[in-house]
Amino acid sequence: MKILVTGGAGFIGSNFIHYWLEKHPEDEIINFDVLTYAGNLENFKTIENNPKYKFIKGDVCDRDAVFAAVKDVDVVVHYAAETHVDRSIMDPSAFVRSNVLGTQVLLDAVKEYGKRFHHVSTDEVFGALGPEDPAFNEKTPYDPRSPYSASKAAADHLVRAYFHTYGIKMTISNCSNNYGRYMFPEKVLPLFIANLMEDKKVPLYGDGLQVRDWIHTLDHARGVDMILQKGKIGETYCLGGDNELTNMELTKTLLKVMDKDESYIEYVKDRPGHDRRYAVDFSKAKNELGWEPQIKFEDGLKDMVDWYKDNQEWVNRCRDGSYKDYYEKQYIIR
Ligand code: NAD
Ligand code: DAU
Repeated sequence: MKILVTGGAGFIGSNFIHYWLEKHPEDEIINFDVLTYAGNLENFKTIENNPKYKFIKGDVCDRDAVFAAVKDVDVVVHYAAETHVDRSIMDPSAFVRSNVLGTQVLLDAVKEYGKRFHHVSTDEVFGALGPEDPAFNEKTPYDPRSPYSASKAAADHLVRAYFHTYGIKMTISNCSNNYGRYMFPEKVLPLFIANLMEDKKVPLYGDGLQVRDWIHTLDHARGVDMILQKGKIGETYCLGGDNELTNMELTKTLLKVMDKDESYIEYVKDRPGHDRRYAVDFSKAKNELGWEPQIKFEDGLKDMVDWYKDNQEWVNRCRDGSYKDYYEKQYIIR
């Protein structure tokens, strides 16, 4: 099988590609990525000579490039997106362009060539929960509240509209907060790890009592794999980690793992429109696909911290921007 992975040079896409080539060495992966600040080819150091892996530098909004790439594969797994909520608050335009228009261009291509399409989405499309509300599931009405989640919701609606109108072979997954290796140091966990490695404080927004559900990104990759194998065309699957933590609990757990005390917490101004709580009910994926998360948070977090410590140079290059020069010198873009 030949799979086009869009946005494969980002955090979750990189982990998916490593996961897939290890689990399905007979398959071919084409990584299609425009390499925004979040795309890093250094993540493929260990597989750049693998004949089953190929990189194409391309923008999902570029019709010619997308049609040429989609024509040549069996399946498209669509990760490419602008993904950081704080950046979407500062400037929504790149989010609408890549996440909405880019998804529509891909949908036109899969419609034209009759390809299988899996759309990777987020639990943020469902909005925010109160403390006693039941967790999100596939029937929860959409209520996005940030420019990022609104752009992802628009993309999800387009994917379903192309299914109902044109009969494309699609599935969608809505997943909760991922963590793991190769995560660009701007979202809460990698930012806090990188700061603590430099003996700096960590900026906790507002009262720190917002709740997120944390899932290891390799559990997410396995979920997408099982949807591709067993998911029903036209269906949506919610994937979650069964691991709700307040940001304060998350931070204190991390401080312990990194041998730091609570004086490293700096309370800062809250994020505008900050969603209070996310939680995901993944019983449909469990009952229909036999999927559930397997990696325990304490093990996954320890692995993540160890990886960041072992890859201090990778973190430094992300932080000072030099990773862009680094890969251009080191890696051939095919
Ligand atoms: P990321 O920001 O780390 O990576 C995104 C990748 O997409 C980058 O490599 C970037 O270069 C690429 N990209 C952006 N715009 C592009 C364009 N126009 N054309 C081609 N490539 C483009 O993101 P991530 O955290 O790995 O998220 C991947 C996907 O998973 C996104 O669709 C996101 O909405 C979804 N998701 C993320 C999480 C999470 O916790 N990070 C949770 C659920 C769902
Ligand atoms: O729920 C899935 C979503 O999770 C994905 O769709 C998004 O792409 C991903 O970025 C993530 O969104 P969040 O906004 O939940 O992630 P972030 O890491 O930015 O923030 C997690 C929580 O930590 C949130 O409540 C805000 C808080 N936070 C974040 C940062 C960056 C802080 O307290 N301090 C910080 O510096």
